[in-house]
Amino acid sequence: MRFLITGANGQLGSEWIHFLRDKKKSYIAYGSDQLNITNRARVLDVLERDKPDVVVNCAAYTRVDEAEEKADLALLVNRDGVKNLADCCNLIQAFMIHYSTDYVFPGLSEDQFKYPDGYPENAGRLPVNAYGRSKLAGEKILEEGDFQNWLLIRVAWLCGEYGSNFVKTMLRLSAERKEIGVVDDQLGSPSFTFDVVEKTCFLLENNKSGVYHVSGQGLISWADFAESIFQKAGTETIVKRISSNQFPQKAKRPAFSYLSTKKLQQTNAALLEWGNGLDQLLYRLKNYKTKQI
Ligand SMILES: NC(=O)c1ccc[n+]([C@@H]2O[C@H](COP(=O)([O-])OP(=O)(O)OC[C@H]3O[C@@H](n4cnc5c(N)ncnc54)[C@H](OP(=O)(O)O)[C@@H]3O)[C@@H](O)[C@H]2O)c1
Repeated sequence: MRFLITGANGQLGSEWIHFLRDKKKSYIAYGSDQLNITNRARVLDVLERDKPDVVVNCAAYTRVDEAEEKADLALLVNRDGVKNLADCCNLIQAFMIHYSTDYVFPGLSEDQFKYPDGYPENAGRLPVNAYGRSKLAGEKILEEGDFQNWLLIRVAWLCGEYGSNFVKTMLRLSAERKEIGVVDDQLGSPSFTFDVVEKTCFLLENNKSGVYHVSGQGLISWADFAESIFQKAGTETIVKRISSNQFPQKAKRPAFSYLSTKKLQQTNAALLEWGNGLDQLLYRLKNYKTKQI
């Protein structure tokens, strides 16, 4: 089975490449400079030439705050780019794997009582920001097209060894500051890139298609997450719990972002508790740093 990865230099794209390389799988990977998914003719050329069995779309416009002012650009990549890939996968009969986000849901604080296990895959979607709307538009391309060969995996609070994310930012800031303000009124659970890639392969190997959530087990706030990062990393930085109002951002953030993984559990996939995922990531980051020296 031959894989084609788009967005190869991002967090998830890099994780995919390391995974496929370690497993000695056949793959070809393209960064945005080599394969811009908004260029339909180029997408068709590349897919017809490479003839992959599986296309893994890790390309996305992910700048949540900038998307408020560049909503058209976010739609171009997250909706039109997905359409180009889906149409071309259809033409060459390749299976398409695509990723989406917790931000497609309304994220109301009271939803934590309605959905104590998190939003199920089929919960009503109503994004609160432009990035979320563009990702929802991408989901609809797959759902509403006449193409069945796809897996759509929603992840949340994504973090891993490569690229930038909350864990790496907190570790960097802890070397500079004694105290860091972190919001404690936004709840969710992190998805770890290594777990996302493993679970995606598990679903693929088990011939699953449709929508699945892959996320950590256990509901926490960003402040809880930061405290645990500092404690596990052995730093003395203190987390000052603040509200979202004290940390204004251009794009509105959902107050509740927890993704239910019950559907994934029904496939017999082993779920990952968020603290365990964090331990694994910190271990990988330590090794990664050593490898870089
Ligand atoms: N990060 C999170 O917290 C989070 C949370 C929930 C869901 N997700 C979803 O998870 C997936 C992976 O996210 P990630 O964190 O790995 O994102 P990322 O690190 O921002 O990587 C995205 C990659 O897509 C590339 N890209 C952007 N526009 C492109 C285009 N037109 N054609 C081809 N490539 C393009 C970017 O390249 P350039 O840098 O060169 O533009 C970048 O390397 C995305 O679908 C994202 O929406 C992420």
